[in-house]
Amino acid sequence: MLRSLNGSWCLILGASSGMGAATALALADAGVNVVGLHFDLSAADESVLLLQKEIKARGVRSHFVNANAARQATRARLIADIAELSEGAGVRVLMHSLAFGSLVPFLPRAGWDKTLTQRQLEMTVDVMAHSLVYWVQDLLDADLLPRGAKVFAMTSAGATQALPSYGAVSAAKCALEAHVRQLACELAPRGVAVNALRAGTTVTPALLRIPEHAEFVGRRESVNPHGRLTVPEDVAEAVVLLSGTDSSWLTGNSIGVDGAELNSAGDAWDQR
Ligand SMILES: NC(=O)c1ccc[n+]([C@@H]2O[C@H](COP(=O)([O-])OP(=O)(O)OC[C@H]3O[C@@H](n4cnc5c(N)ncnc54)[C@H](O)[C@@H]3O)[C@@H](O)[C@H]2O)c1
Repeated sequence: MLRSLNGSWCLILGASSGMGAATALALADAGVNVVGLHFDLSAADESVLLLQKEIKARGVRSHFVNANAARQATRARLIADIAELSEGAGVRVLMHSLAFGSLVPFLPRAGWDKTLTQRQLEMTVDVMAHSLVYWVQDLLDADLLPRGAKVFAMTSAGATQALPSYGAVSAAKCALEAHVRQLACELAPRGVAVNALRAGTTVTPALLRIPEHAEFVGRRESVNPHGRLTVPEDVAEAVVLLSGTDSSWLTGNSIGVDGAELNSAGDAWDQR
């Protein structure tokens, strides 16, 4: 059944920019109180304060923490905060939107002076994939993931496509999609839906860190049959839409939120 999200809580992992920040605002528009986690240098303090102000201006509560999502101590702290803030009700929406990866090839390659280390590969997959499992485990353990809750994890076309720098993140996306399938099955009896959202190419700080982004962005724009790239608000709208039901039947999927970018065979759709 469709129902209002007003007065519920969300937890956004990666809330300070890109998809996470846009979703925090869109959920706040729907009356959802926001707990946001991010991991930034102090240079980002001002923009995070501004974001929190914008969230509060929508008449909801906002609690942001700057800490590493992959650490057990961060989960313990934030889960205690959520229990207190939501008065035990827990989160209606959990969004995993962490961008933290090593962007170098596996093997020596012309034009690159570094290759991926074991530590970099393990950290990338731990933050961008495995941390989803640990957050779900700990929220469930604290009884903060109620029936009707929705879990979203951000995946990308990189789960099935290779770029020179993207090997570690690509592995993380494959693992993340596997975790989504597994969690969807394990949470089905509890009425909690788990889906991966496969965003199209979106200009965010994370995308701009990909060394090949300049050539990549131009090509993707002409390939997308909508004639534009994805914007974070496209993803935010999908999260709000998919969260407005108590049903857990739509679960275990990787859902494209890319304007059919991945389906397009080439730039024959270019409208420019
Ligand atoms: N931008 C794209 O084109 C695109 C496309 C498909 C999928 N995605 C995925 O969407 C997700 C969000 O990406 P984005 O483009 O919005 O990135 P972004 O750089 O705008 O935001 C990343 C967020 O993650 C937070 N973060 C990073 N490491 C963290 C850590 N260890 N602990 C806590 N917070 C941490 C940052 O503080 C920031 O809030 C990522 O998983 C990314 O792979 C992005």
